[in-house]
Amino acid sequence: MVIAEGSTPQGWQAASATTTPWGEHFIYESDVGGVKCCKCWQSMGVNRVSSRLASIAPSATLAVDSKAKALKAQGENVIGFGAGEPDFPTPAHIVDAAAAACHEVKNHRYSPAGGLPELREAIAAKTMRDSSFEISSDQVLVTNGGKHAVYTAFAALCDPGDEVICPAPYWTTYPEAIVLAGGVPVVIETDDAAGFKVTVDQLEAVRTPRTKVLLFVSPDNPSGAVYTPDEIAEIGRWAVEHGVWVLTDEIYEHLVYGDNEFASMPTLVPEVANQCVVVNGVAKTYAMTGWRVGWMVGPTDVIKAATNFQSHATSNVANVAQQAALAAVAGPLDDVAMMRVAFERRGTEMHRLLTAIPEVTCIEPQGAFYCFPNVTGLLGRPLGGAVANTTLELADLVLTEAKVAFVPGEAFGAPGYARFSFALGDDDIAEGISRIADLAAR
Ligand SMILES: Cc1ncc(COP(=O)(O)O)c(C=O)c1O
Repeated sequence: MVIAEGSTPQGWQAASATTTPWGEHFIYESDVGGVKCCKCWQSMGVNRVSSRLASIAPSATLAVDSKAKALKAQGENVIGFGAGEPDFPTPAHIVDAAAAACHEVKNHRYSPAGGLPELREAIAAKTMRDSSFEISSDQVLVTNGGKHAVYTAFAALCDPGDEVICPAPYWTTYPEAIVLAGGVPVVIETDDAAGFKVTVDQLEAVRTPRTKVLLFVSPDNPSGAVYTPDEIAEIGRWAVEHGVWVLTDEIYEHLVYGDNEFASMPTLVPEVANQCVVVNGVAKTYAMTGWRVGWMVGPTDVIKAATNFQSHATSNVANVAQQAALAAVAGPLDDVAMMRVAFERRGTEMHRLLTAIPEVTCIEPQGAFYCFPNVTGLLGRPLGGAVANTTLELADLVLTEAKVAFVPGEAFGAPGYARFSFALGDDDIAEGISRIADLAAR
């Protein structure tokens, strides 16, 4: 990436080099016509794409999904465990609200960048209803999905070089969002023996003066782990004690199974609220992945800064989608309960089928809609005539040989594991896992 030592063809003189989270930036100076100018090497046409964006990997989960869809389009009978989206349609009362909103002229216009006031109010009320966390509507920013809230939150919190503790396995988007925002992901590995949960001792071991944020996710994607209220409270108290911000992603709050319960950190540890951002959205709870509405909740100074950013980046989220989200969060939870029951049944069945494969072990999913088995037993041995040595290779092999798509653990910083979404029909789950069992037995 270094273009020249000393000077460039245009006559610019190398002045200094700085290391940034995105690599080395070389500053060049010129004294043309008595005017001192400087520019860094990116602006000299050396790189067509900025190093910041060039460093981003494509979303592995979407990549697996699109490869599976491409095979399907060619007529192959592919079973896709890749995408984390409910197979249910969005509940009818939500769709009806959106249809009615289409006919209202006010929804054809720009609206406040931070979100429709009535939706921000409803999100504040819903946060009280579901988490017992009391907030006001000016603590809410409505975003283009939970993913956008994650990025905006890191942009609002991180200065270059700020460290963000990121327990692995992590949802594939987090490290990219942290790096884009100038932060440095500090990964703590967890495994199935630990139930994929991080402890305060592990957090303390990586804390430095640059630690700014802890990323905390429960119920978790991809592991399906759910922290107990005691565990959450202990981590919250550690964050308060050390002045570490917490970004807590609660998008799977309604999807917990068995005896597990969802709990929100700022409710359990009220002192953390002033250094905490909650990310949430309608995608998973209401089968609304395509509508693109999420939100972040935080202290008013952070929300104000994030709203200013959003006012320049995207303006308001589509009004019709916001009206649909309003019907969702202000409406009944009956459909949510029905979907939760279906997911729990499917998760239990998928877990049973996966663990019936001799080479596979898997902890029972406690929440979200993923099984995250350890599949190292399938590596390094013939499977249908081929051998996979990594879970990346295994995902490709299984897609080719058995026409079954899953996301390899590498996408989540956890090689050796594989993510299987059980947000699809019972028959597909049975057929897909039995194809893998057959392949493993061949
Ligand atoms: C943990 C987690 N957070 C946030 C999101 C973002 O959801 P969306 O952008 O669809 O609202 C996802 C989606 O997969 C997720 O798994």
